[in-house]
Amino acid sequence: MPTLFGKRVLLGISAGIAAYKSAQLARLLKKSGCEVRVVMTEGAQTFITPLTLQALTGEAVRTSLLDPEAEAGMGHIELARWAEMILVAPATADLMARLAHGHADDLLTTLCLASEAECVMAPAMNQAMWRHPATQANAATLRTLGWRLLGPDGGEQACGDVGPGRMREPDALIAELSMAPEDAPSSMAPEGAPSSTAPDVAPAVRDADTLRVTITAGPTHEALDPVRYLSNHSSGKMGYALAEAWARRGARVRLISGPVALATPPEVERVDVTSASEMLTAAEHVAAESDIFIGCAAVADYRAEHVAEHKLKKTDASETMTLTLVKNPDIVAEIAARSPRPLVVGFAAETRDVERYARDKLTRKGMDMIVANDVSQAGLGFGADDNAALLLWRDGDDTDSQALPPQPKTTLADAIVDRVLTLYAHRAPTAHD
Ligand code: C5P
Repeated sequence: MPTLFGKRVLLGISAGIAAYKSAQLARLLKKSGCEVRVVMTEGAQTFITPLTLQALTGEAVRTSLLDPEAEAGMGHIELARWAEMILVAPATADLMARLAHGHADDLLTTLCLASEAECVMAPAMNQAMWRHPATQANAATLRTLGWRLLGPDGGEQACGDVGPGRMREPDALIAELSMAPEDAPSSMAPEGAPSSTAPDVAPAVRDADTLRVTITAGPTHEALDPVRYLSNHSSGKMGYALAEAWARRGARVRLISGPVALATPPEVERVDVTSASEMLTAAEHVAAESDIFIGCAAVADYRAEHVAEHKLKKTDASETMTLTLVKNPDIVAEIAARSPRPLVVGFAAETRDVERYARDKLTRKGMDMIVANDVSQAGLGFGADDNAALLLWRDGDDTDSQALPPQPKTTLADAIVDRVLTLYAHRAPTAHD
């Protein structure tokens, strides 16, 4: 661990249940060759004792700003200057709020304000608190102030909820701290890191950090023989725009792509498939590890019952040819029928009665939301750079809707992400089960 060896690390611990992990973190920092000093907030001491941290670091633990005895040793300004890195783990929602607003009302916040050290935090809190717009705004502010946020991770929480908010595990934190920030994975990229393919899109708030999003995109090709296939005009642009929008907002994105001529958006993991069956296999493979599943692909509804082994020949004897087609699996419906399952969003490209057909699909396929668009409108939809959409989602027994006017697929993607995030945040935890 070359970048950690010999580093002077000030470990700040705030009042979260994840504070129990801080003991292991302190131990691993020491093992990596760091000099470690610990500062605990008052609340943190109800979760773990200073004595534990003292025993692990071999240094007295500081807990108070106004402690004359401690200040007589290394005063808080000296301590702030001593640190080469401040690592706050766990960082609670309250501590994040105080740091985002420059408070200095206890030792830890004062040190953070007084220090010019590299600042890193590992947020940990209940998933609803993490998703709250106030916390997300504070996270964005902290990033602009130079803080590097590691995590939180998703999963089961101490309070019984499931979602993003778990403190990243100490060994994972150590591995990430050993990397230069520019080498770190996307979830740690600084706020508003420029996207190479969408320079005209405003930097996004990373409000989808830790969410795992799977997106299907593009057409499928259904082979008829070794040289021919059935397909459609899907360009994949909408699905790729969505993948890019989610990635910019911090999500871990998997893009299951049919054959398209598009570059993979930055920080997106792409899986290439050809047929609907391959797309379903890929989708099923990752469904259990996805928080959100978006079926944006224009999947061929039918495939040839038998794929000819050799090129089909035209004959002089007949002016017609009959192909027998069989229905393809419905990928979004299959994913929506799983238990547990991700939040499922589908698309409906229609040429008439858009809302009626979309409502029917939303219910019939068991989806949570559908993005419907009229592909008969010139300049919109298939192959175009622009699109308009009607979003329909289920709200208990009712259906709610939002009309999105014609706009570039890139900005439309952001508006869809906003709505999906709201829906995800309001979704009852039991819906995951
Ligand atoms: O029924 P229709 O093809 O109009 O439904 C569109 C929605 O269903 C899209 O979200 C599309 O990705 C999905 N779909 C699918 N598998 C199919 C057909 C459609 O996932 N076989």
